[in-house]
Amino acid sequence: MCEWVEESDPDGSTLKTKKYDGKLYTSIIPGNIKDHLERLDTMDVRDDDIFIMSYPKSGTHWVFTIASMLRSGKSTYIGSPHFLDYNDVDVLDKLPSPRLFASHMTFDRLPRQAREGKGKVFVVSRNPKDVAVSLYIFFTKLNAPDFTGTWEGFLRFYTKGTMLYGSWFDTLFDWEKIKASSSQDNIMYLVYEDMKEDLLSNVTKMASFLEVSYDKAFLEEVTDRCTFKIMVKTIMDEIKPQDQEYIHKMSDEKKLPIYRKGEVGDWKNHFTVAQSEAFDKIYEEQMRNAKCKFRFV
Ligand code: A3P
Repeated sequence: MCEWVEESDPDGSTLKTKKYDGKLYTSIIPGNIKDHLERLDTMDVRDDDIFIMSYPKSGTHWVFTIASMLRSGKSTYIGSPHFLDYNDVDVLDKLPSPRLFASHMTFDRLPRQAREGKGKVFVVSRNPKDVAVSLYIFFTKLNAPDFTGTWEGFLRFYTKGTMLYGSWFDTLFDWEKIKASSSQDNIMYLVYEDMKEDLLSNVTKMASFLEVSYDKAFLEEVTDRCTFKIMVKTIMDEIKPQDQEYIHKMSDEKKLPIYRKGEVGDWKNHFTVAQSEAFDKIYEEQMRNAKCKFRFV
């Protein structure tokens, strides 16, 4: 059964999550989680569906925006993705094609048909120090965040692995296992830092993974429109009604709290030397056998 987990630490930081079947979820998933996951499992997947999977703050909205442009052949911004995690399956079922979903859950929680190869799945990962900073600052902008408290308190929960969606490391290892064991060719793995380094080549690879063919000029246009500066400006200029609603519901901010700095290495402005060294130790230890290595600058 699903249970509420509330933790607090001596400096007054608090974290609330929902736990089901050994995994931690965000508290905004409605109901007992079990029923929702069961319905997701049997949800009908369409051939042109796209799923963007990530640990929070890894560039989900970025990949979503690129994928939506490549799917539609138009370099226009279409708003935010529908999350599998907390949208009713009846709502997801009725969305017109092509559908683009996002989720912070792992492979085992994708609809069965997607796990069996239907639709296309992008998995995006980002170095865990920048993820931590991005997630912490995101919480400070929300009206009813799952975490409240200090950066230090946040980091304690985060390194312990009790943050919503659990440990960054476990999420990465789950996907690495799928990558190593599955013969599925409907999953493409992306790394945030690689996208920052060379967006055009990632956009080009994403297009061929989606089996869509465009001339170089269109791929360059998508790349250009999805660089942080242009993408964020466009999003604010052409804000969609569902995003406006989302902002009002979640935050008092005037702009979408998702988009902040979009950089590699901003962690240096937040981690103290001691925090960084302690985290590096955990990283070295945990990542000993990992295939994917991350750049932190
Ligand atoms: P920062 O808070 O470090 O700026 P998600 O979509 O998974 O919630 O991830 C949000 C993070 O991705 C934020 O990181 C956000 O600024 C960054 N991001 C969004 N669009 C981006 C883009 N076009 N280029 C680079 N980073 C982007």
